[in-house]
Amino acid sequence: MKSLKSFYNEIDFFFRKQIKFSRKFSGKNELKNNLFDNLPPQKRRIAEDKEGLYLKKYRLDYLKQNSARRNYLENLAIIELLENYIQVDKDSPKILDIGSKNWFYASGQYHFFRYNNFKKEIRLDGIEIDAYRVYSDFCTRRDYALYYTKTLKNCRYITGDLLKHSGEYDYIIWFFPFVTQYPLLEWGLPLSVFKPREMLRHAAGMLNPGGKMLIVNQDENEYSAQQGLLEQLHLDYTRHNSFKNSFLEYEHGRYVTVVRS
Ligand SMILES: C[S@@+](CC[C@H](N)C(=O)[O-])C[C@H]1O[C@@H](n2cnc3c(N)ncnc32)[C@H](O)[C@@H]1O
Repeated sequence: MKSLKSFYNEIDFFFRKQIKFSRKFSGKNELKNNLFDNLPPQKRRIAEDKEGLYLKKYRLDYLKQNSARRNYLENLAIIELLENYIQVDKDSPKILDIGSKNWFYASGQYHFFRYNNFKKEIRLDGIEIDAYRVYSDFCTRRDYALYYTKTLKNCRYITGDLLKHSGEYDYIIWFFPFVTQYPLLEWGLPLSVFKPREMLRHAAGMLNPGGKMLIVNQDENEYSAQQGLLEQLHLDYTRHNSFKNSFLEYEHGRYVTVVRS
């Protein structure tokens, strides 16, 4: 069954890459009033206070005025996550996001690094192997990513395989790497690209001295598979507990690991 699914995904993936479908995507803008009305009073106050703080500190006015509500909340949640685990102690940091999908969270990453201690310049790269996956509106992940990053200076969406990418980075962010086969197959990728250990080794090798890689896994099962890989490669890491943000509730727990170069 697994190999049949993988075979089907292989063919589909092959054609997506050849066809390279593309269409301009324009996101919708929504009002941001009563953003936290779904939360109980105490949590609502915390969310409102944090949103006010981040809006100012990370200069999110443009994002707030030009985004869908969910997208704005997702980006706030990313900033809160990064604030909890990353200290930006490099000047002009270079950052890589691995497996960026449609990069709906690029603004959160960008503004966090750009306005943390007022760094002058940053370079933010995002890499995605399956950038030509088409959504129901006939736009691809890449089309979305180009829209989400259009105002971000020195920000690149790279269509390609992490294993073929070379670079040197101060920070690497990796949300939900495929560490088991099932989610990768369900995502529509073939088993030929399931190389979790090689990918982790390659990513760790791109960290500059003193660099950090933040990995988020989706549930305890994936978290422990991730830990197994980190141990096999003898990487220096800290396992953190499940992280809950103040803005959104997710169905699955989010488990954080920070790897040091
Ligand atoms: C579970 S998704 C996470 C997507 C996104 N980071 C998020 O938080 O929603 C993992 C992503 O990694 C991408 N990916 C898998 N293998 C890759 C590789 N070798 N190089 C680049 N991207 C890869 C997949 O196509 C997928 O979009």
